[in-house]
Amino acid sequence: MIALRPAKSGDGPAIAHVHVEAWRAAYGDRVPPQMLAAVNAEHRVPAWVRLIDHHQAALPTIVAVEDDGAIIGFSTASPGRSPAESFDAELHTIFVRPPYQRRDIGRRLFHAVAQRLIAAGDRSMMCWVLAQPQAEAFLTALGGRLISTTPIDAFGQSLAQHLYVWTDLDHLPPQPGI
Ligand SMILES: CC(C)(COP(=O)(O)OP(=O)(O)OC[C@H]1O[C@@H](n2cnc3c(N)ncnc32)[C@H](O)[C@@H]1OP(=O)(O)O)[C@@H](O)C(=O)NCCC(=O)NCCS
Repeated sequence: MIALRPAKSGDGPAIAHVHVEAWRAAYGDRVPPQMLAAVNAEHRVPAWVRLIDHHQAALPTIVAVEDDGAIIGFSTASPGRSPAESFDAELHTIFVRPPYQRRDIGRRLFHAVAQRLIAAGDRSMMCWVLAQPQAEAFLTALGGRLISTTPIDAFGQSLAQHLYVWTDLDHLPPQPGI
């Protein structure tokens, strides 16, 4: 059975490996080779170790774990952004290892993150995401609304970056079976 828990010190390397595997599977054929090459464990492990070990308060992460403790998914969001921002919180990442996808784990992670944000006083949320049908279907199913698309230059190739928003975290689409 897959359980969810807050990330803890020492989870950084496993989170980084899930990130690289799921990112490459999702975007491998959509981004320039230089960008794909930059998403690797060598770069991601130190970044995730730093984030998990030192920045959990500002950027809390929730992980999904197998019975044996192996991390198979995660999500990170920052609560309470500056008042200058139009939205209270930002969803930064949500990734599930490909063999575990489409088993409701992303949805459970999303709702767990939303609950933490609501508990912190946040009512709205934004998420930037590189255009990709799976991500778009997921964020839409979870109540996100696409409000803008911005072209970004990646090694000479133009990629589309979508901005999804949730204006009322108290009224998300219900979780099946709950
Ligand atoms: C997006 C992602 C996190 C979804 O995780 P998941 O555990 O597979 O998603 P769930 O099983 O919880 O799906 C919830 C709903 O999203 C939608 N959805 C998810 N994946 C989908 C797909 N491949 N095609 C169409 N709809 C999809 C469906 O409506 C689904 O509900 P249903 O299965 O009852 O029809 C996962 O596919 C992933 O890691 N993708 C790569 C990274 C990424 O794109 N992250 C998102 C932005 S940072």
